Order: sequence, then structure tokens, then C-alpha cells
Amino acid sequence: MSKQLDFPSGFLWGVATAAYQIEGAWDEDGKGESIWDRFCHTPGRIANGDTGDVACDHYHRYTEDVQAMAEMGLKSYRFSISWPRIFPTGGKQPNQRGLDFYRRLIAALHEHGIKPMATLYHWDLPQALQDRGGWVNRDTALRFAEYAAYMFARLGADVPFWVTHNEPFITTFYGHGNGINAPGLRQPWQLLTVGHNLLLSHGLAVQAFRAAGLHAATPDAAAPSIGIVLMVWSHHPASDHPRDIAANRRVDGAMNRLFLEPLFRKSYPEDMLRHLARRQIRPRVAPGDMEIIAQPIDFVGVNTYTRLVNAANWRDLLTGARQVAQPGPKTAMDWEVYPECIYEALQKVRQYTKLPLYINENGAAYEDIVAAGGRIDDAERVAYLHECITQAHRAIQDGIDLRGYFAWSLMDNFEWSHGFSKRFGLLYTDYATLERTWKRSAYWYRDLIARNALIDVGKLER
Ligand code: FCB
Repeated sequence: MSKQLDFPSGFLWGVATAAYQIEGAWDEDGKGESIWDRFCHTPGRIANGDTGDVACDHYHRYTEDVQAMAEMGLKSYRFSISWPRIFPTGGKQPNQRGLDFYRRLIAALHEHGIKPMATLYHWDLPQALQDRGGWVNRDTALRFAEYAAYMFARLGADVPFWVTHNEPFITTFYGHGNGINAPGLRQPWQLLTVGHNLLLSHGLAVQAFRAAGLHAATPDAAAPSIGIVLMVWSHHPASDHPRDIAANRRVDGAMNRLFLEPLFRKSYPEDMLRHLARRQIRPRVAPGDMEIIAQPIDFVGVNTYTRLVNAANWRDLLTGARQVAQPGPKTAMDWEVYPECIYEALQKVRQYTKLPLYINENGAAYEDIVAAGGRIDDAERVAYLHECITQAHRAIQDGIDLRGYFAWSLMDNFEWSHGFSKRFGLLYTDYATLERTWKRSAYWYRDLIARNALIDVGKLER
């Protein structure tokens, strides 16, 4: 028996991407080097030696990509702006040609009635700023606010949704803790300094946004709004043993609470401060910082893909936890298929704020097979998205103010340390020809958007 799960009218169906993962053109039109350029050009950092030098070549093919978005019926497109395209050396000299690219992209989106959602920082810091300490240096937060103010002055009114940061947790713990991401540092003692400077830069950018006094571009449009996108994964203790429960709480603390609490409660979680202080890890908080960080914002974006099941492990210095693999289906990332992550992540954020929420990233990597005739029947991805979107619907039924859902990602792209080996796209990218092919999930998503409803047929076959 099938039933139809209707979504609220105006629900924002979208897809998400990030500049470094799709643009390519890494040194074109005056763009400066980013920490991801430097990182990928360093042997041994990325699977297969892949780089984002060309990636999906979106910089040159954006018209074609926007056309595909229009055919999919997307209401919104979340992309990120490459800071070193705008400020090649991170300093005062803007690069007009970099700005022009985003102006063209935004104009193309508007032509098709697709609302732009622009993220200012999806991890590609100008290398010149890294050379001056990067996010360990408080000054980077001030440079970020200048860059943000510049963007608001140039493109502010044309972008209904501005996002300061994407997943400050990853920049903090992957960029500076385990070193898996650029800038590839292993300096755990700096973690809270990095996290704090990121949050501070967010607050300063929000202040700059308010100071810009942006109004709607047209009388029928809403005024531009600003928010932040957080990675929020579900957490479960591996058992009801108090040690596992405590370990689970610390993982939740590191991933979620270290960012949610300052943003909405003007403080860092006491238990995490105590826990990390024992490892000589402390934030450097100046008077007034917490007020800046907790500036009122307009929405919160949530990225969620799976859950972590945590057990105590004293060998792990940071969280004293290890993740326990679960039986059952996994994606190509080895992430457990756990669609309830959507519902649980939204409920988690809801404990902190009643602001409108967006699922700004959700999706699954699978080893897509191109059949004869070019068909790509990604049944597993369709099933995953179907189940996740069912959970989004459940959250709305339970009173969560969820305003939109963004699939990660428009097309297969450069998946950070995994290079091109993990495919998350609705469109298949052939990296030899750069041709994009619609997977079954893309057609499926198009139909869902057209109906603004999910046909619930229960659990789908994988
Ligand atoms: C998120 C990132 C995004 C993408 C997905 C799979 O953490 O924000 O860029 O890599 O994971």
C-alpha cells in the first residue's frame, strides 16, 4: 500500500556543492592558491594523488550545470564561494574576475527561478592566510569578516540565503586534529583556538551582514537571510554501561555541543572544557567574544549522513571513544545506512533553537555502475534518499520548522581526502570526458520535486 507524504508548499528542494569540489580552474582568472590546492599538490595526502585542479570543471561548465538543475526542477542551489578567487592573497586586493564568476552563476540561477544559497567558507582558505597562521591566528577571523562584508556589498541582495561556515567541526578536528583535511595539521592543543576563531569569524560576518542593511531585490522577494551550516550526526552509546554513555556524550560534545552551545547559549559546554583542559586544550576567549558568536541569525543548516555508535576507549586522547561498526547495510564511505539521522539531528538542533532549519546536505556514496547505453540505475541511492526524506517528513509532522532539503550532491565530485573515488552525485561525472549523465536518482528527485511529495512505499529494495 502506498501513501503520499506531502511537503509544505514552498519547501525548498535543492542540491549542494562546494567550490573546491567542483570548480577546477584552480589558478585561472587571478585566483590565488588555497590550502586545498597546496594540500592536494603535496604527495601522499589524497587517494590516487587526485587534485581539484580540474575537478568537474564547473567553472567553465556552470551554464550546463544550471540547465540540469532547472530540468530537475530545483528550487534552490547551495554552492560555496572560493575565498581565494575573491581575495587571492587573503588581503585587501579583490580580484574582479573571481567575483564576476559568481555574479554570472547567480544570474543564471535567477534566470531559472533557482534561489541561490551561498556558503562563504567551505574549507578553502587562501594559502597566504595559512602562511600567517590560518585559523590558529585570531586575525583570520577579522580577514573573514572583511571578505564577507565585501561579498555582501557586491552580491548581498542577489542571494536570499547566506551561509557563513560549512561544518566548523571538520575544519577544527580534521584540519588541525587528525590532519586528514587541509591544512593537514596535527596540533590537538590548538583545537579549541581554531574552533573559537571560526565561531568568532561567523559572528563578525553576521554583524557585517546586519551592518550592510540588505533589502529584498524585488518587492515580492524575501529579504536576504544569514545562517550557519553545522555537521550534526546522531550519536548512540554502544551499550548502557556508564563508560560508554560518557564516551558517547564526549563525541556528541566534540561534534555538536562545542558549536551549538556557543552559538545559542553564549558558552562552551563545561564538561568538554574540563575534559579537554586535562589535555592542555583550551580556547583563547577575549572579553565580548561569546556575545559576538551568539549574534542572532536567521536559520540553521544541518548536514547529516549517518550515526556514530560510541564506546569508551582511553587510547583516544581527544574524546576517549571509539566507534563500533554496526551490522547492516553501509554506503561506499563505510557509513551505516541510518536514515533516522535526519530526524535525530533535527531534534538535536531544536533543543537549542526554534529557528527555521534546513537539511543542507544529505546523501550517499555508492559504486555506480554505468550499464550498456549509459544507464545508471543507482537503486541504493534512491532507497537511501527515499528513507531519509521520509524522516524529514516525520520531523515536519512532529512540529520541526524544516524549510528545505538539499541533496549532496548535484554531481560526483572531488570528495576531499578520498579524491574522486567516492561518488555522491545525482549526476554521474565521467572524469575523462567531464560529461555528466543523469543517474536514476536524478530522475527520481525530479519527480519528487514536481509532486512536492514522496510516494511512501515502505522500505525499498536495495
Ligand atoms: C560533508 C561535506 C561535503 C561532502 C560531504 C560528503 O561533510 O560538507 O563537502 O564532502 O560531507
